[in-house]
Order: sequence, then C-alpha cells, then structure tokens
Amino acid sequence: MSLTLKSGFSFDYDNLYGEGKVTEAELKSYEEDLKKAHEAMKVMREKGFIKAHLSKDGEPEKVLFSQLPYVEEGHLNSPKSLAHLKELTDHVKNNVDAVVSLGIGGSYLGNKVLFDVYCGDFWNAMSDEERGGFPKIYFSGQNIDPRRTGDLIRHLKKLADFSVSHKKRKGKILLLVISKSGGTLDTMSNFMVIYDALQKYENAEIEVVAVTDPNEEKKTLLKQLAADKGWPTYAVPDGVGGRFSIFCDVGLTMAACVGMDIQAFLDGAKDMDKACQNDDIWQNPAMLNAALKFAALKKHGRNIEVMMPYGDYLKSVSEWYIQLMAESLGKQEDRDGRKVYYGRTPLVAVGTTDMHSQTQQHQEGTLDKVVQFIKVAKWENDLTIPNVFPDVKKLADISGVTMGEALEVARQSNADALQSNHRFNACFTLPELTPYHLGELLYMLAMSVAYEGELANVDAFNQPGVEAYKRIMGPKLQALKAGK
Ligand code: PA5
Repeated sequence: MSLTLKSGFSFDYDNLYGEGKVTEAELKSYEEDLKKAHEAMKVMREKGFIKAHLSKDGEPEKVLFSQLPYVEEGHLNSPKSLAHLKELTDHVKNNVDAVVSLGIGGSYLGNKVLFDVYCGDFWNAMSDEERGGFPKIYFSGQNIDPRRTGDLIRHLKKLADFSVSHKKRKGKILLLVISKSGGTLDTMSNFMVIYDALQKYENAEIEVVAVTDPNEEKKTLLKQLAADKGWPTYAVPDGVGGRFSIFCDVGLTMAACVGMDIQAFLDGAKDMDKACQNDDIWQNPAMLNAALKFAALKKHGRNIEVMMPYGDYLKSVSEWYIQLMAESLGKQEDRDGRKVYYGRTPLVAVGTTDMHSQTQQHQEGTLDKVVQFIKVAKWENDLTIPNVFPDVKKLADISGVTMGEALEVARQSNADALQSNHRFNACFTLPELTPYHLGELLYMLAMSVAYEGELANVDAFNQPGVEAYKRIMGPKLQALKAGK
C-alpha cells in the first residue's frame, strides 16, 4: 500500500498499516481528531494561528512556515527576497574563496542538509572550476569545541596563504553568521574567535553576512552589530522557528552560496503543501504519516522513530529530523496544561551503515520502534559493480548489479526482515535526489509534525525545555568570568 503523488514521491506504509499493525479501526477512532487537525492546518495556512501557541517570551506568536514555499509579493519569501539572495550568489561566485556558515540547531541543521545533498563530501577538494566558481564551504558554531575551531582557523589561514601565492591576492573568506535570537553563545563564541584570528591574519580578507531576526525596533545583538559595522543582513522572520527555517533565508543563503536551485527547492515544498491540503487522509502524506505514527505510539507503544535514509549524503536529513521531532513533539504538558509527557524519541540511522550495528536492536530489541526508511529510486551516475575477480564466486555473483540496485535490495531486505518479526516500518521514496524532491520531503515532515501536534494536543511550535539549561548556564559563565 502506498500513497504516490504526481511527482513520483511516495509513502509506502505496507509494513505499518493492516492486520497486526495500525488497524483500520484504530485510525477510525481518530476520525474526528483528524478532521479537527486538518481544520487547524487550514487556519494556520490562512491566518498563521495555532491554538495556544506562545513565543518563548510568553507572547502570542504566529506560525508562518507554511507560507514560505509561496514566493509572492508581501510574503516572507518574495521576488524581492529572492533577488536579494541572488545578490549573494553573484557576490560569492568567482570572488569569495570560502564561506564559513556559523550557526547551531535550526540555524545549522538545514544548511548542512542542503550542503551535503547538493555538494557532497568532496566539494572543498574540488578546483574552483569544478565547483563552478562557488566557494568552499565550512561549518562552525554547532559546538563550542576548541580543538575543531582551532583546526578550522589553521586551515583557513593556509587557504589564505594559497590564495596569496597562487592567485596573487588575499584569501577572501565570508563569515555567514546565522542566529535568529542574535546572541547564541555557541555561534557567537566561535564567530568571535574566528573573526579575531582572521582579521589579524595579513593574508586573509574577511567579510561578514548576518542572518537574524529583522525586527528594526527591537534589534538583536547580531542585527545591531551588523548595522554598526555595515554588514549585509538576511532575515529569519517572526513566526518561523529554527526547525522550519530551511525554507527561509537561513537555508536559502546556503543554497545561494553553492548555486543550488532555490526555486526548485521551494517548488517541491509548494507542491507538497498543495498535496497536504487534501482532506482525504489517503491522499495527504503529512496527515497520513502523522496519523499512523501517532496510532503506532498510542495503540502499540512504538514511541521511538528511527529515521533511516539509504545513502550517506542523506544522513544529515535524519539529523535535521531529530531536531524537528524532538523540539516539536517532546512536551511535558498539553495545550490545556495537563501533564502528558508526549513525544516519540527520534533516532538517527543510515543504511546500509547501521544495518551492521543498530539493526540488531531494531530486529530483536524492545518492541517500541517505527523504522522510517528514505529511499532514492534513481541515483545519478549509478555505478555498476564490475566482474573483476571472475574466479571468486561470491564476488562474481554480485557483479553486473548497480550500487543503487544493491542499496535498494539491502533496504528491501531489511524492511522484509523487520516486517517478518512484527517490527513496524515504512518508506518515503524520492524519485531522484534533486532540490525539488528534497523540498517535498522536508516540507512533508514539517507539516506532519504540525498534524501530530494537533493530534497529541501539544504546542508543536515552542521549545520551553531548551530554556531550562540556558537559565543555569548564563549565571555559571558569569561566575566563571568573575572568578578569573
Ligand atoms: O529550534 C530552535 O529554536 C533552536 O534549535 C535554535 O535554532 C538554536 O538554538 C539556535 O538559535 P538561534 O538561531 O537563535 O541562534
């Protein structure tokens, strides 16, 4: 059983729905709740309103991520904002040697997805020509790690030296500082360390682009710095939380720096949004996914979701999804103030790698998981396994098969084995690994947690739990400084 969209994107739920799995009767018991959830999504699209959602300052806040796929005048993504992104592309292309994307959480994870899927592991090892004139890309700010930051600085200095010796000009390095709140310690500490080191380095020429809350009245620290220093700015608009920000300037500045097709990415999200407006659950991927996973938890105790794409460059999609799920659905109280301790714990896995480690637990451990596969149907430049050792039967037997085909046989075998032992699993299929299909997938997942928030009656758009440690950490740091 599967739901297939016109684009070829599909959701195969054969191993999640039916006898011994989530049943028709179980889904039926949520009929009214699903209708209400669907109605709430309509209101969210039209008015940006989500019942009982408050910002971290306790103020009513709009939820606007569903507007992002629609590039229109007066929208958060508009022809003007896309033109502004094009300016960044034009500026970095054949000009900037390296971009360091600094951010954490929602200001990092989406950018890493776009980089991994579009550029891959060897982007920085390619020549300028092979990269089409686009800069090398580095990430920082996603930890406060002195070892890695020190290594990065040494590496960037060498890159600057190379520019002086081979291009006869200073190495041009752009620091893309991304922080909605504008003052996140992890991001800003790395920024200051790197900014200071490179500014003092005579072979490097640095510039800064800031991506932050655009509010002019109540400027973030980063916005104020940008104004004082004359740095260009891009926006993380009000109503777009970090985990949804891949569809706004946060993700799109990364896309602009590597020449990824922004319009195609947003078109994929837009077509998915249209599919998710269908009030027939069997035609609406986000509603169906949310309902099945919610029922799997409530009726069968499957409170862990293993996100397991097949393909190395999709691992960061799992990491992005961890934040989306954990921050959206891991809630102690429901929207009526009752203690519910809701949430399905998300886990990162990648096939085939984790079939040689986690799969033992998925196959035989506690019956508490849904394994969610992601499959790419057709790989660009697939490789055929050659018959280089014809006398070695085991190796000759796998020759003539492409690596993409072998990958899918491995995934299918894993799915069959799990199913044979009452282990729930499902699969999203992308016809190809393109910006369009990536946009479809990520948007569907974002919309799905919004549906599930409605079903569980929790606020899927706040994250009060991450404030707890921050309240402790601030004074601790101050005490540390005072004691020096
Ligand atoms: O989802 C969230 O809100 C968080 O994970 C943030 O993205 C993260 O803390 C970074 O915040 P900021 O962009 O304000 O630096």
